[in-house]
Amino acid sequence: MNFEELKETIKKDLEKIQDSNQLREFSSVYLGKKGKIRNLFLELKGISLEQRKVLGKEINEFAALIQTEAQNLEKTLKEKEQEYKEKQNKLDLDFPGEKIETGHLHPLSTIRREIEQIFQLMGFAVVEGPEIEDEWHNFDSLNIPEGHPARDALSLGKTLYLETNEILRSHTSAAQTRFMEKINPPIRIVIPGRTYRSDKVDASHEVNFYQIEGLMIDENVSVANLKAILQRFLKEFFREDVKIRLRPSYFPFTEPSFEIDMNCAVCNGKGCGACKKTGWVEILGGGMVHPKVIENGGLDQNKYKGLAFGMSIDRLTMMKYKINDIRWFHSGNLKFLKQF
Ligand code: PHE
Repeated sequence: MNFEELKETIKKDLEKIQDSNQLREFSSVYLGKKGKIRNLFLELKGISLEQRKVLGKEINEFAALIQTEAQNLEKTLKEKEQEYKEKQNKLDLDFPGEKIETGHLHPLSTIRREIEQIFQLMGFAVVEGPEIEDEWHNFDSLNIPEGHPARDALSLGKTLYLETNEILRSHTSAAQTRFMEKINPPIRIVIPGRTYRSDKVDASHEVNFYQIEGLMIDENVSVANLKAILQRFLKEFFREDVKIRLRPSYFPFTEPSFEIDMNCAVCNGKGCGACKKTGWVEILGGGMVHPKVIENGGLDQNKYKGLAFGMSIDRLTMMKYKINDIRWFHSGNLKFLKQF
């Protein structure tokens, strides 16, 4: 290749260089000891001394020129690359962070745990009974006679029967006699869990809901204990003195029996979907354990007395968080769930 042509190519190649890698490549092709510029000297051999001197000088000058240009270019490229690196590493503290989505407990679980804790502080142990029950524990042992309307599988609000002759427990009370059989008094337990009734689903009824049962059996247990325990519980749970009313009621397994209502916390007693516009919601059933039930549990009814109560965890959760429809719980609606 002749000198003039090479000069042109070198200049063009030099202009094309974008980064240090390309520059390194360029230097090794043209400028090294075996580079193309040095090779030009080999071609000088065949020409006269006079010409050789002139051309040699030209080649040397050109080599020096390219060398300097390459060095300058190296400097600018390095600066550019350093600047870019710094930009990449710079921590921008004002840059908005990425939100990390985390899961959390369902409100019903949170509230169940809270309720359990309050009773644990009062000396109750948390235990669980089976969801699939037999008629003895769910009904007969609790003094619910055959023919009692609660046993009718066909009418609404009643028990769900399985093909195996077993049932889905309609209340956590089913576990009462189970634990009387298992442990000797004094007994002080709460039994949380799922319960089932073939209810017509509306703002305050679900087929599947949660209850927590309380059972205390000892030699000296009275209605005063029942009242004190429930009042203390409600005060701790709502963290304020809530309005409650005790109504005489009837359960086959307690005598006397009470129903306890509280002022609807969703509407402050004004009337809404959650309280069926009455301003009151029934949150608790309770009473003194019927002597027959104590006997059915295998305990001496002359020696022991008991108190029992059952409440809906769903309803307590609705009151605490002011939720006006029980159907939200199983709706799977993330907008609803993310609020808790
Ligand atoms: N098992 C009753 C219900 O489901 C509540 C209850 C429990 C009542 C214990 C009295 C004693 O409504």
